Amino acid sequence: MTQRTLVLLKPDTVRRGLVGEVLSRFEAKGLTIVAMQHRAIDGEMADQHYAEHVERDFYPPLRAFATSGPLVALVLEGDEAIDVVRAINGATDGRKAAPGTIRGDLSLSNRENLVHASDSTESAEREIALWFPTLG
Ligand code: TYD
Ligand code: MG
Repeated sequence: MTQRTLVLLKPDTVRRGLVGEVLSRFEAKGLTIVAMQHRAIDGEMADQHYAEHVERDFYPPLRAFATSGPLVALVLEGDEAIDVVRAINGATDGRKAAPGTIRGDLSLSNRENLVHASDSTESAEREIALWFPTLG
């Protein structure tokens, strides 16, 4: 089934010059970029994006990181895109993520792990509406 998913190339991806490397992995897989935006976000936007995590102990430093510089937000489309993109991204902790994944190959951190992707059809719908309100 064709799906859309919300992906962030977080500020570490932009700072480290890995935007092209990460995007090329999604494109090479056959996913289509249907919207993309380079922007910085404020703390309120971070709180909305990470609504499920705002009460967690790890949230304050995560919020600081998410607002620390520009990021790239995009919507990817393709067959089973939600699970496919999370598999390409790898496990949350870059130290434990499998080699071959974006995080496994390029991150050594549980926080600065380069990418975000929606984890369900419900979160994809919510996150796409939050980041790209004009997308139908
Ligand atoms: P989570 O939704 O659990 O991971 P994922 O990005 O794989 O869906 O957590 C959101 C982000 O919060 C995660 O990408 C990195 C950060 N984070 C921490 O900084 N510390 C933690 O212990 C966890 C679980 C996540
Ligand atoms: Mg998550």
